[in-house]
Amino acid sequence: MNNQSAAVKSYNFSLKDRNLLTWLDYSQEEVKELLSLAKWLKKNPTSDILKGKTLGMIFEKSSTRTRVSFEAGMLQLGGHAIYLNSRDIQIGRGESIADTAKVLSSYIDAIMIRTFEHEKIQELSEHASVPVINGLCDMYHPCQALADVLTIFELKGMVKGLKVVYIGDGNNVAHSFMILCAMMGMEVVVSCPKGYEPNEEVVKKSKAIADKYGGSVVVEHDPVQAVKGADIVYTDVWASMGQEEEAKERMKVFMPYQVNDELLQYASKKVKFLHCLPAHREEEVTASVIDGPDSVVFQQAENRLHVQKAILQSVLV
Ligand code: CP
Ligand code: NVA
Repeated sequence: MNNQSAAVKSYNFSLKDRNLLTWLDYSQEEVKELLSLAKWLKKNPTSDILKGKTLGMIFEKSSTRTRVSFEAGMLQLGGHAIYLNSRDIQIGRGESIADTAKVLSSYIDAIMIRTFEHEKIQELSEHASVPVINGLCDMYHPCQALADVLTIFELKGMVKGLKVVYIGDGNNVAHSFMILCAMMGMEVVVSCPKGYEPNEEVVKKSKAIADKYGGSVVVEHDPVQAVKGADIVYTDVWASMGQEEEAKERMKVFMPYQVNDELLQYASKKVKFLHCLPAHREEEVTASVIDGPDSVVFQQAENRLHVQKAILQSVLV
């Protein structure tokens, strides 16, 4: 049996013609299937299952991991990816999202987009006749969260009941991490300064998901309280892409939320540190933590490739 038929045989699971805008549209069962596929692809990295398929990748923000893992992932599965920087395509000169969606759908098989407003991705998916994947927007970063959960599975085996703590800004990475960990039945704590909490609607929906799957979601302003007994501590930059002008002000507000050795003393002795990267050492995390023995950030970054391939295979086959 060649790699391609093995992949098809092993996974009679498909999200074909579906979009991945946020994990709110998915169930625990579907996510577990995707994670199994990602694990399988990590061991069986190449095939020609996506032969003849093309992914278009629209970027309105910078990227290292998302761009390269999607592009390399398509290649490893026999397909092809086209990098579309918004500055170089007509979107950057005002062509509508709807027209872009219709035209691209007639050339390619799926679209990945990294942008600002979530509504723009929704509009793109409404007008595209091919699957649309959210490669990060101001509200969500679903592909990142799948890699995060795969990493936690690899480190801890069972994830139900695990205490995972996100410290920092309550935006895109925090939202997707909260939703997906709640869906896996984990005990999720998000710790952020007042005024930087996660979106209320997303918290409400995450709590409902946690109730369904036996987990919990708590927003806790005190970082020491939040970290007590944590199995996983996760942080992200204090000023996200598009917020560069607020960086100075945010530095002051977020400093008490820095992940450093002192704070990690309150966590479990077996705590592992996660960061989506890119990181700013001595801001949201000290070098001693991110470059220390409890850090798993490069395993987590590598897993972006494996989950990207699972997502691509699931929406395209
Ligand atoms: N974590 C992440 O999405 O990294 P990039 O911005 O480099 O894609
Ligand atoms: N919150 C960060 C994540 C980068 C991967 C940002 O949006 O810039």
